[in-house]
Amino acid sequence: MTKRTPRIHTREGHPDFVDLDWTSPIREWTSDRLVEMPEGLHRHEIVFVAYDEGVYAIKEILPRLARHEYTMLRTMEGRTRHTATAVGHVERPWVDDDLDWAGAVITKYVSHAFPYRHLISGIGFGERRDALLDAFAGLLVELHLNGFFWGDCSLSNVLYRWDASSIEAIMIDAETSEIYDRISGGQRWNDLEIMQLNVAGEMGDIAAEQGASLDEADLALGEEIAGRYRSLWKELTTSLVVTAGDHFRIRQRIARLHGLGFAVDDIDLIPVDGGTNVKIRVKVGGRQYHSERLREITGMDISENQARVILSDLAYHDPKFGGTTATGKNVAAMKWRSTVFEPLVAQIVDLLPGRDPYQAYCDYLGFRLAMAIDRDADIRNDEAFAAWRDANFPGLREVV
Ligand SMILES: Nc1ncnc2c1ncn2[C@@H]1O[C@H](COP(=O)(O)OP(=O)(O)O)[C@@H](O)[C@H]1O
Ligand SMILES: [Mg+2]
Repeated sequence: MTKRTPRIHTREGHPDFVDLDWTSPIREWTSDRLVEMPEGLHRHEIVFVAYDEGVYAIKEILPRLARHEYTMLRTMEGRTRHTATAVGHVERPWVDDDLDWAGAVITKYVSHAFPYRHLISGIGFGERRDALLDAFAGLLVELHLNGFFWGDCSLSNVLYRWDASSIEAIMIDAETSEIYDRISGGQRWNDLEIMQLNVAGEMGDIAAEQGASLDEADLALGEEIAGRYRSLWKELTTSLVVTAGDHFRIRQRIARLHGLGFAVDDIDLIPVDGGTNVKIRVKVGGRQYHSERLREITGMDISENQARVILSDLAYHDPKFGGTTATGKNVAAMKWRSTVFEPLVAQIVDLLPGRDPYQAYCDYLGFRLAMAIDRDADIRNDEAFAAWRDANFPGLREVV
């Protein structure tokens, strides 16, 4: 009899997972590492395991698909922060490789995220519909800009997370995906078709579960996602022709892209019309412009819209710390980090264990702003924080 030894591939900085009972299917595991986490709809068996390094999701899937999903997710790392982090893949060589449990893919648990079912109210998404549309269309655009053809885009293959007063969408299921240097128009069209079909099915299911008829279901949601997708794609990829010498137009274009949250990787200025005009062609990267700026200052990995809000807190403190020149601004950022940001985050972590501390920081900033408007004066942080605590930490939106 062959020995039941699994073949495990993992990445540095994560557990090796050898202590898990790979001889039996995950469904039969009794390990005390198992933890219950919110999970969405899925075809494959999935478990969550906790280690000192964090919580991980293990999904049983054909070995070739496990390797593929791992490779796709790994390739996307560094291009976007909106895909799950691949940690490893496992093969059980003694199991028939046509069976799902012959393989497994391991990803890092996406913390503070939840499946779309948590966003439903009634037979649709209620007041969160608009934020969901934006998050979903934005994710698809970002993936396509990075050459990623999904092949199975659906509401349940995405996880959601509060991101200041928006929602952040994170792609988790990359089984059917392919990555190209550049995705073609046909592939994008194809992905949008698949998305609309999947989303319509999901909205039909939600309505049915609520005892409503199909006519009442929000079947237009997918089409609207596609609509927003198209306008965002156009905005990000259309080259602009301006009069040569109008340098401010280049800065304006870039500021606009940053405003949409997209980082700009490369800028090409191409003379046209015999040199009278220039075509500005910009290569847009991930939707992480503010995340990256805040990471430079704090070293922390913070969601795009949270980062945007937190950076506005830095801008608010800037003059107080003498941040008017470029050097002054750097010094002000360090002062803000050590005297404002870090102490407040530390208090939040202490007072609100389990809650996303950066989302809570944004909640607090929202509260301070409302107080300042109400009183028509600046409020000191110690006073505003105490008031926020006394009010039982109200959020920008409901926090799960
Ligand atoms: N890295 C992860 N972090 C958090 N939850 C996850 C993660 N990976 C999967 N899940 C949960 O498991 C469910 C199924 O994952 P998915 O990859 O879509 O599996 P399937 O191929 O079976 O559809 C998801 O809806 C999600 O709730
Ligand atoms: Mg899935």
